[in-house]
Amino acid sequence: METIKSYVQQHKDRFINELIELLKIPSVSADTAYIQDIIDTANAVKESLEKAGCDIVEICDTPGNPIVYGEKIIDPLLPTILVYGHYDVQPADPIRLWTSPPFEPVIKKTEIHPEGAIFARGACDDKGQMYMHVKALEYMVQSNTLPCNVKFMIEGEEEIGSKSLSWFVERNQEKLKNDVILISDTGMISNQQPSITTGLRGLSYVEVEVTGPNRDLHSGLYGGAVANPINILAKMIASLHDENNHITIPGFYDKVEELSLAERAEMAKAPFNLETYKNALDLNDVYGEKGYTTNERNSIRPTLDVNGIWGGYTGEGAKTVIASQAFAKISMRLVPNQDWEEITELFTKHFISIAPAGVKVKVKPHHGGQGYVTPTDSIGYKAANKAYTETFGVPAIPVRSGGSIPIVALFEKELKSKTILMGFGLDSDAIHSPNEHFGIFNYLKGIETIPLFYKYFVELSK
Ligand code: BES
Ligand code: MN
Ligand code: MN
Repeated sequence: METIKSYVQQHKDRFINELIELLKIPSVSADTAYIQDIIDTANAVKESLEKAGCDIVEICDTPGNPIVYGEKIIDPLLPTILVYGHYDVQPADPIRLWTSPPFEPVIKKTEIHPEGAIFARGACDDKGQMYMHVKALEYMVQSNTLPCNVKFMIEGEEEIGSKSLSWFVERNQEKLKNDVILISDTGMISNQQPSITTGLRGLSYVEVEVTGPNRDLHSGLYGGAVANPINILAKMIASLHDENNHITIPGFYDKVEELSLAERAEMAKAPFNLETYKNALDLNDVYGEKGYTTNERNSIRPTLDVNGIWGGYTGEGAKTVIASQAFAKISMRLVPNQDWEEITELFTKHFISIAPAGVKVKVKPHHGGQGYVTPTDSIGYKAANKAYTETFGVPAIPVRSGGSIPIVALFEKELKSKTILMGFGLDSDAIHSPNEHFGIFNYLKGIETIPLFYKYFVELSK
């Protein structure tokens, strides 16, 4: 019988071309101007699942973007794997920083991807990683090796908070029943060292608005006599961290789970080179919370970051003006046990309390989600590790990631099952940045590794 390795070798050009077609559709969820592209992408995903061998595939309407659901049930007594992924992508801007247009995929070689990488928005996050699962199913169906039942749930709002997916999951518990949830929407350490993501951070995302005078003012006539909302906003934001880069919001750290020294020592074993890290980002030094390493700062510690700030005159030349309003978008990455709604409330209360009387402040919550940690002794984790070990030749290392997939915590709550995060992207793949790409090596390795997860998951479940 044909092995997955030879099947991938034989069909790789088609696999790459199919992904390229999917990447051409600009399914940006943040901007409603792309709604038709969202629908087109959902339809393309539906078609691909039908072709791969799902028995039922449907586009499920929601209050927002459609969800693609597919399944192949071969025997109700066998385990069921639920594959989750997202077909929506981040906005491509700033477009001028792309070396090729974001929705005209091209293959280019890089230092890290000598065999080439597909450059396009969504290549790694998450169309490329999601499509590996479609192709893995195709192989298992073609070779008659699908060892269990499979369900697919591919959504179109992950990048904007998965609101409709929460709605959908709450209403479809029976339909979505499964033994394990499998997701490829994270990364791994390197192409030589696979890793399995055992934790995700939670998120609270807010927008703040500071209003001073009721109109923009001449900065000479009024400057110095009224509160300038931009000055005030900058000052308020700066006060949210102290000199040790601890966050100053009262109660913010109350529920933070502190790792033991032994756990931190275990974490420190993962390969990491600070010089390489700095060089890759053109940084003279790293920066962050006192008392923690870079890897700890971006995974087991909570953060507060301004994602965007605006107000006043930003056009060409100089305009002497005191703006009436200033705005900022702020995200807080949270760790297990911090509740995102509680943190949003703490932020709101604190931010309003530090505003001087000369301005009015509004805080608008956007979205959020809880963090997630998964044990390494589950059947799912063991199966994933066996699969990686077989295709990479070395066992995977457990790693807690700094990113968020808020829906994962909801899956556990509503569907009562564990999620296994089998990611194949690299940090250098520039997800959310200009020139996002996904290595051909990674794409094909993913397709090779996934069927082994199925095999070992079923074997270990017996
Ligand atoms: N796939 C990412 C999350 C991710 C990437 C986790 C790499 C771990 C490693 C996902 O699409 C994403 O970008 N999530 C958002 C949160 C969402 C609510 C907008 C994030 O982390 O900013
Ligand atoms: Mn993603
Ligand atoms: Mn993303």
